[in-house]
Amino acid sequence: MQVPAIDLAAQWRDIADEAEPLLLARARSGNYLGSEAVEAFEQEWAAYVGGGVHAVACSSGTDAVELMVRATTEPHARVSVPSETFVATLGAVERSGRTAVLSGGHVHARIAVWLYGSTADADSIAQECAEAGIPLLEDASQAHGNRLAGRIGLAAAFSLYPSKNLGGIGQGGVVTFRHKIHADKARLIREHGYERATDRHVMRGFNLRMDGLNADALRLKLRKLDGWVARKRDIAAMYLDSFRLVPSVRCDNHIDWKPEPDHSFHQFVVRVKNRDAVLASLRTAGIGAMVHYRTTADGRETEWSRETISLPIGPHLSDEQIQYVIDHVKKAVRS
Ligand SMILES: Cc1ncc(COP(=O)(O)O)c(C=O)c1O
Repeated sequence: MQVPAIDLAAQWRDIADEAEPLLLARARSGNYLGSEAVEAFEQEWAAYVGGGVHAVACSSGTDAVELMVRATTEPHARVSVPSETFVATLGAVERSGRTAVLSGGHVHARIAVWLYGSTADADSIAQECAEAGIPLLEDASQAHGNRLAGRIGLAAAFSLYPSKNLGGIGQGGVVTFRHKIHADKARLIREHGYERATDRHVMRGFNLRMDGLNADALRLKLRKLDGWVARKRDIAAMYLDSFRLVPSVRCDNHIDWKPEPDHSFHQFVVRVKNRDAVLASLRTAGIGAMVHYRTTADGRETEWSRETISLPIGPHLSDEQIQYVIDHVKKAVRS
């Protein structure tokens, strides 16, 4: 049996009837930038996140983090970034010219990363930020479908990389802002400072636009997001139930071995001691297990980076495929 980490072709089949005529029409029309589709996607994503946020679509999740930081902090700002994240969070802060702070000390803003889709720490992080009087920014790149994502901080950056819970048909990202003034600034930065009202370029910026074709597909996929995430939660419940009595497989962040209710399960991650042997054994059995990530964002090896392994949790996997993974994980940790 083969159990891929994710099956994007199956996702496409869920939207193909509507998507294919739309994409062909756009290709034929010549309207490739499709700003009307991008704006519609922004409105629909803002409505999905809720709380009256303003959404700005862009060209990748890395760009989304950078836009978020540039729009909400001063150029000299010191921005706290956790080391247990994908390297892009750190790289985007550095590219913005702000100082990324990985360990303690005075900061002007803090980025929280909802790693794997979990907001389990959100309350305590929000409280610490409130006590310190600094804004909380969310890297929600792994948290689409977690209904708290985008509702906790001043702004939230989402990657729309194809394998994310909401993934485009190419690179993409979107930032949500609580305040319009920040969204307006991000829009200027996104398009070389172009201000539509005056038809002038009023500041320096970049070209970080989302393409129309991508927006067309994302609007259709957004309608499927909750259903896909619900299936991922069911798979997570199967995993948790099966590993409850296997002490050598640790599932962090899951109180009472129940899936954390808001978790979007971008990844289902377990910790095992002999990680690389388990990984090799699963791969040999046709299982698309992966490692997120082999080092911290600043390149260190820690217990976390040495022990974590991501098990397949694509929404199109069958119960039989998940049972096959469970059986092999149990076998691999015994040998
Ligand atoms: C936590 C996190 N931040 C940022 C990014 C960067 O997103 P992208 O690959 O779309 O640039 C990703 C995804 O890859 C991510 O998982």
